Amino acid sequence: MHRSLVSISDLTDEDITELMELSRVFFEVNSRDIPKVPALRGKTVATLFFENSTRTRLSFELAATRLSADVLTFTLASSSVSKGESLRDTAETIESLGADLIVMRHFSSGSVQLVSSWLDIPLVNAGDGAHEHPTQALLDAVTIMDHFEAGKRLDGIEVAIIGDVLHSRVARSNVQLLSRLGARVTLVGPPALLPTDLSLWPVKVSNSLEEVLPLCDVIYLLRIQSERFSESLMPSLAEFSKDFALTHDRLGRAKKTAIVMHPGPIIRGVEITAEVADSPQSLIRKQVSNGVGVRMAVLYWLFGAYQGRLESIW
Ligand code: NCD
Repeated sequence: MHRSLVSISDLTDEDITELMELSRVFFEVNSRDIPKVPALRGKTVATLFFENSTRTRLSFELAATRLSADVLTFTLASSSVSKGESLRDTAETIESLGADLIVMRHFSSGSVQLVSSWLDIPLVNAGDGAHEHPTQALLDAVTIMDHFEAGKRLDGIEVAIIGDVLHSRVARSNVQLLSRLGARVTLVGPPALLPTDLSLWPVKVSNSLEEVLPLCDVIYLLRIQSERFSESLMPSLAEFSKDFALTHDRLGRAKKTAIVMHPGPIIRGVEITAEVADSPQSLIRKQVSNGVGVRMAVLYWLFGAYQGRLESIW
């Protein structure tokens, strides 16, 4: 029986700890002169992306390559989808070609779960609509933990997730994971960009960045997901920036020890100024580099290769 990673809720607390530990092993591998191990030699990993991506796709492909797997890349623009091929036929073709695992991104929430019910190989959700993006949350959690030298938990760490929470799969995965690890999460944004019913979310909510900023250890910014808005409901970016962009002045009112994070792509001048993005408090580039090791951990773990025996990696 294979396992897939579609949602953070697919993981037990033990799984999360194991993935964090394994990620750190791969951070060490990635720091070597030759950052490559034979762990998945002979396996084929396919990336199936129906939505644009820079870092997530490259990160998964690099992770698979560094584990010595072969990589099959599906690109929507040059695929048979334009000839009318269905999602099911596309996915089954990739399985028949010999893929042993599929990393999938799609604009529809629930699509990765659906494809996983059709196939006999593991799937990793690299973002499905506004639903989830579990590997982003894993890499964010390990980045926060390592920065604050917090060990295995995030107890007492205050995290503010700011901006377009309504359309953000990153926020949905992060709220679950960070709160399970003990962090206290506050969602911050104008009412129009927050989900209307948050009663089941383990979060506090605020419409005032000014109020929340002095209290938080992690300032986590989100991009406005313009592609998920119907045009008439698009907020004015200038209005949004006036109240919610993280500027140098605003960062000055946060704790000196606070860190700035963002899943990327960042839109300089909308949710973050260039100065803040490049400031020493910004861990945005660290998130990207940690992402490779975390995805190596996820691939390795889903292939069932990890039985608590790290020596089997090389
Ligand atoms: C995010 C995504 O695609 O969900 N990016 C990413 O994977 N790093 C966030 C975004 O696109 O704004």
